[in-house]
Amino acid sequence: MRQLTEAQKNRIEEILSRMTLEEKIGQMNQESPSIVGGFDVPFSELIEMLTDGRLSKEEFGKIMSTSQQDYHEDDIRAGRVGSLMVQDPAKVNELQKIAVEESRLGIPLIFGLDVIHGFKTVFPIAIAEAGTFDPDLMRKTARMAARESKAAGVSWHFAPMLDIARDARWGRVSEGPGEDPCLASAFATAKVTGLQEGESPDDPYVAACLKHYIGYGACESGRDYNTVNMAMHVFYNHYLKPFKAAVDAGAQTVMAAFNDLNGIPCTVNKFLLRDILKEKLGLPGFVVSDANAIRECINHGIATDDFDAGVQAALAGMDMDMGTGIYKNQLQKAVEEGKVPMEVIDEAARRILSVKMWLGLFDHPYVDEASMHQYDVLPQEHLDLALEAAERSIVLLKNEGDILPLAPSAKISVIGSLADQPEEVVGAWALSWRKEDCVSLWSGIQKEFANAKYFPCGGPEGGLNEEEITEAAAYGDVIVAVLGETIAMSGEASSRADITLPGKQRQILEKLLESGKPVVLVLMNGRPLALEWEDAHVPAIVEAWHLGIRMGDAVARVLCGKKNPEGRLSSSFPAMTGQCPVYYNHPNTGRPASKSKFTSRYLDAPLDSLYPFGYGLSYTSFDFSNLNVRDQGDVLMIGVEVKNTGERAGTTTAQLYTQDVAASLVRPVKELKRFAKVTLEAGEIMRVYFELPKNELGFFDNEGNYRLEEGLFRIYVGQNSRECLMAEIWEK
Ligand code: BGC
Repeated sequence: MRQLTEAQKNRIEEILSRMTLEEKIGQMNQESPSIVGGFDVPFSELIEMLTDGRLSKEEFGKIMSTSQQDYHEDDIRAGRVGSLMVQDPAKVNELQKIAVEESRLGIPLIFGLDVIHGFKTVFPIAIAEAGTFDPDLMRKTARMAARESKAAGVSWHFAPMLDIARDARWGRVSEGPGEDPCLASAFATAKVTGLQEGESPDDPYVAACLKHYIGYGACESGRDYNTVNMAMHVFYNHYLKPFKAAVDAGAQTVMAAFNDLNGIPCTVNKFLLRDILKEKLGLPGFVVSDANAIRECINHGIATDDFDAGVQAALAGMDMDMGTGIYKNQLQKAVEEGKVPMEVIDEAARRILSVKMWLGLFDHPYVDEASMHQYDVLPQEHLDLALEAAERSIVLLKNEGDILPLAPSAKISVIGSLADQPEEVVGAWALSWRKEDCVSLWSGIQKEFANAKYFPCGGPEGGLNEEEITEAAAYGDVIVAVLGETIAMSGEASSRADITLPGKQRQILEKLLESGKPVVLVLMNGRPLALEWEDAHVPAIVEAWHLGIRMGDAVARVLCGKKNPEGRLSSSFPAMTGQCPVYYNHPNTGRPASKSKFTSRYLDAPLDSLYPFGYGLSYTSFDFSNLNVRDQGDVLMIGVEVKNTGERAGTTTAQLYTQDVAASLVRPVKELKRFAKVTLEAGEIMRVYFELPKNELGFFDNEGNYRLEEGLFRIYVGQNSRECLMAEIWEK
């Protein structure tokens, strides 16, 4: 793990000793290019006016033609900017030159960006990639994103997003690794390592920014930015875990979440920022607010005005202000009036300088503008990794009568407007891709199937074209229906109160099924959907998420059987929206759901999720048997026999869960502890072993103390969180 040397630490102190208060505060200020032009209201209001109809598209276009970007050059020159969001290498150098050569102390800027699942090479959205259960793959995709963005001068990624999310109504489930803390922690470690550690000394690296700290994924009723109330044992055992894993892996920075946690916005939450993150976990670098979040503390009803919000944030340990200018405009006065001690400013500036030093920006502030040209055409290695990540993220949800894979000669009707939109493959929060690199499903399918024909028929936003549906039903021996959500339907500010297929897509399916032809539903979406109806009526369902630039190729290769699906669900899928939040690792109740009336259930919904966490089928089948637990003192050695019982090679994911049967706090009915990918030839048998230190059987109480309690534990091993073998042990 790369760490600052003593000489670098001394150099930071030396720079600090020469900085004025204003320059220190300048480091704490992050700007993004603001749009200025022939309009006298702020740009954000202009957007609102466009959205609520006060401005027509034409009027908006006319105003925008007068606009230009303000990069805050004067503030940079005056040492009043520490960071900027820019991704053009020439612009990076131009602004960096002002900071380095024209500001008094020549402190370089740090350029940050949302590089969530790839830069030029876009990989699957995180919820999908987590479903590969393969940390090494997750590390490799992060590594590639780091190399590409670094060539553009971006050395700080606002990623990985580590929000545990249990409510699929929340649009941002797409950006994170799902509902489970163990899988999310593996994802966290892999991503931080991939971003921050090169494979050789001159391999480019960037600083990670873990977000959104914390509890954002637990926003009430899945509505974005909403309030969060959470028992502290849930906080420690579930939501904090991936952040801890990431800091342990060396993560340099953290972004605080928009929401409040138990009444205090994360932005001004001293307990979260100082006590837990900086002191307990030992974050080496700095904390940045989310966009505009310091000012939003006024809306939260926690601060009276900008000054108050700025003071509270600084005192709580918020080192950098994203986008409000509050630190820039208010902190000097706050220090002069004694509201914010000088040590708070020193600490923030020191932390920010330390990350810049860690990145080597003091010695190498500029980017080689030519180096981005190596990605003008994406190298084969990048295309290959994008394909591998995409195919391995695909989850086969249903395959009745082994409809899949389809013969390459099959006559196929491909339907759905999403199938022919290359730009829809990249998913939410992809900012730097090119359309010509994106492979749509229709174009991928044409490469594998000679007799495929495309009929749009309708899609998530549109209606339904009866004529095309009739034609599609008449042409194909099998219909591949590509349905789901557009990119805009998940991601930030994209919560949905009904997570069934949007628009008239179900009617499209109904009509296709009426034809009697077999239908394969390929889903493109950014969240778990409520698929009770589809599961009951459609014989084959493939969950293909938003898989990145090679999506079309990946899906086609799964449909024709060149790739045997191996992806798993990193989040449970409800049968109906009303079941949300639904997650496998819930505590038990006094009346666990059963068919009897007075149990914890709905009258009008199934007892459990439709597809559980960890679930996913293959074109072959696997059998798990002979679970055995050996006590080896401090460690449990858990073995299970896995057999490929089908007729082709395939990969399954063996999952080890535990349950603390009686403890001093309610514990999850199951919690994932280990997992292993197992690839077997047809008929092959392998014994898989897991080593589980007994001290991992403990948990955190409400005060954050780790407890290891004696009693009965259940050990489960299986192919998903529902279907498992079970053994019991008594631990003292
Ligand atoms: C999002 C963050 C993102 C930031 C900067 C915010 O709206 O919540 O996830 O990093 O914008 O783009």
